Amino acid sequence: MVSDAPRQIDGHIVLVGLPGAGKTTVGRSVAKALGRPFLDFDLEIERRAGMSVARIFAELGEPAFRRMEVELTRELSAAPPMILSPGGGWVTNSGVIAMLRPPGCLIHLLVSPAEAVRRLSRSRTTRPLLLQADPSVKMQALWDARAGLYNSADTILNVEVVEPQAITDSIVALAHGRMPAIG
Ligand code: S3P
Repeated sequence: MVSDAPRQIDGHIVLVGLPGAGKTTVGRSVAKALGRPFLDFDLEIERRAGMSVARIFAELGEPAFRRMEVELTRELSAAPPMILSPGGGWVTNSGVIAMLRPPGCLIHLLVSPAEAVRRLSRSRTTRPLLLQADPSVKMQALWDARAGLYNSADTILNVEVVEPQAITDSIVALAHGRMPAIG
């Protein structure tokens, strides 16, 4: 029988989207609900490099940071299923999506560039790519360059209009192969 129902997700669940979309917060809560490990790429890269993402960008350059993302992805492709929260630019690394999917599955946490900037203005974490006079212009440019990659995700959840708990519930439903109540 052919069915349109989603299949249970056996591989990694990878949360993608603009900085400020809430990938880390949602990822932690989904991991807790599913009893799966959670990994935040930026934190893991900082731990390994012994310096902040901002310092990696400033002292080693963005290409070095992107190579660290690719290397981490390669390692994770052989790891048991986790909830993964890569940085917003991870999708731009050639080949990384194919390293995890299948059996992994991408979920795009969709926020508009304007809302992403609003959310980040309340955050204490420094995003080196947004350290410029008008972060709105830069965020719009990131969106323009990445929207196609984000939207190649298996599922898109508009996190601007949905409560955080409902986002978690939806991802848990998808992980179990059920249709989410929202989308
Ligand atoms: C980046 C997003 C950041 C971090 C780095 C680069 C990007 O992660 O990886 O500053 O290129 O969009 P968040 O999406 O968690 O902010």
